[in-house]
Amino acid sequence: MNQALAGIRILDMTHVQAGPSCSQLMGFLGADVIKLEPPTGDVTRGQLRDVESADSLYFTMLNCNKRSITVNLKNPEGKEVFTGLLTECDVVMENFGPGVLERLGFGWERVHEINPRIVMASVKGFGSAGPYADYKAYENVAQAMGGSMSTTGDPDGAPFVTGAQIGDSGTGVHLMAGILAALLQREKTGRGQFVECAMMDCVMNLARVKFRDHQRVARGPLAEYSRQEFADFTPRAGNDSGGGQLGNAIPCKPGGPNDWIYVVVQEHVWNALATRVGGEDFAADPRFADIASRRANQGEVWRRLGEFAAEYTKWEMRDILNELNVPCGPIMSTADLVDDEHVRLREMVVEVPHPERGDFLNVGCPIKLSDSPPEIRRSPLLGEHTDELLSEILGYDQGRIDEARAAGAFTRTPRPAAAAAD
Ligand SMILES: CC(C)(COP(=O)(O)OP(=O)(O)OC[C@H]1O[C@@H](n2cnc3c(N)ncnc32)[C@H](O)[C@@H]1OP(=O)(O)O)[C@@H](O)C(=O)NCCC(=O)NCCS
Repeated sequence: MNQALAGIRILDMTHVQAGPSCSQLMGFLGADVIKLEPPTGDVTRGQLRDVESADSLYFTMLNCNKRSITVNLKNPEGKEVFTGLLTECDVVMENFGPGVLERLGFGWERVHEINPRIVMASVKGFGSAGPYADYKAYENVAQAMGGSMSTTGDPDGAPFVTGAQIGDSGTGVHLMAGILAALLQREKTGRGQFVECAMMDCVMNLARVKFRDHQRVARGPLAEYSRQEFADFTPRAGNDSGGGQLGNAIPCKPGGPNDWIYVVVQEHVWNALATRVGGEDFAADPRFADIASRRANQGEVWRRLGEFAAEYTKWEMRDILNELNVPCGPIMSTADLVDDEHVRLREMVVEVPHPERGDFLNVGCPIKLSDSPPEIRRSPLLGEHTDELLSEILGYDQGRIDEARAAGAFTRTPRPAAAAAD
């Protein structure tokens, strides 16, 4: 079956995570993704290696459904190959540090001139303009500067980064939306455009409700927070729900690091929950009679729930609470998740064969299209498809490929003799 993005060819120059997470998703949906790497490869191929001399999981889990070509963009012949590829692609993606692409001679204006139909997608830490534009960024830098870290963690402790990669993969998802919108607009205008996502902006978008609370706090204390001390900014919320319903993490039996369950005390389930947890006396206690009093006395609510949950595992608690229609979530470790029946059924953890490292697990495609089921294919070896792509897309014959190779288009430029002798 044809996949949704079949026929869309992406020239993907991205590295590390923010860009590759986007192009992998687009590959899952059927785009032809050409990963254009420097001759040394995406740096993550060698980072955090668990199998000697095999591509790391960092690389293999973010670069499935792509073909790899190495091109030396600092070499004239390499630039020619790149220019040729630009003319044949629908999208070009990059997430280099500020100014890198301009130094290589391929800023947006030049790319647009080479191929007016191409969509150029760019990730920067802070965008292309403004006082922060020249700063580099990684995940935690974006979380620090986008409002996430200051609002995450214990109110009395240090700010915390979240485990979800909202700065990198979160930006990747935003970038995909931008690319798809630009491709749709190209249907009407015939023109490509420049799509930019700044990691800081994307974290702010994901932290939107924290800016809701920033404005509310100016008018008085936020009743839903368990700690009632406020300055003029949104505080760290610990495990408070942060929404219209009360919630918190409750420890369960047998007391291991992930033996917890998150319980949302939705207003209309209170009676059933309180009766099950503490009998009719608890349900009738005026200290918990309505949401305002439950907010004010929430410490006691959590203590009573904790006493109850100490007798049950998180899985038993999940069953008890779901039976009562109480929204809840056992805290699932990565070990719980990779073997979970529901997760496997939804193909959110898939086994992918790899010639160097054997099978590895990847997180599947979270976007489910009824007419476009994803088929997840392994990440490419470095430069595995260089010759294939040159011949298929640029029509190079073997002689032309050999010439370009001899001129250093796909390899590191040899050091001059004098420098080599240093
Ligand atoms: C991630 C980041 C901090 C890494 O910084 P870095 O390792 O110094 O890498 P840069 O992107 O700045 O530079 C890459 C270099 O490789 C070179 N390079 C990249 N592809 C090349 C190719 N195919 N051929 C030749 N050279 C290449 C570039 O020209 C540049 O060299 P230069 O410094 O001489 O101009 C930086 O890329 C960045 O801030 N990116 C934007 C935000 C982002 O995406 N962050 C990562 C989230 S996972």
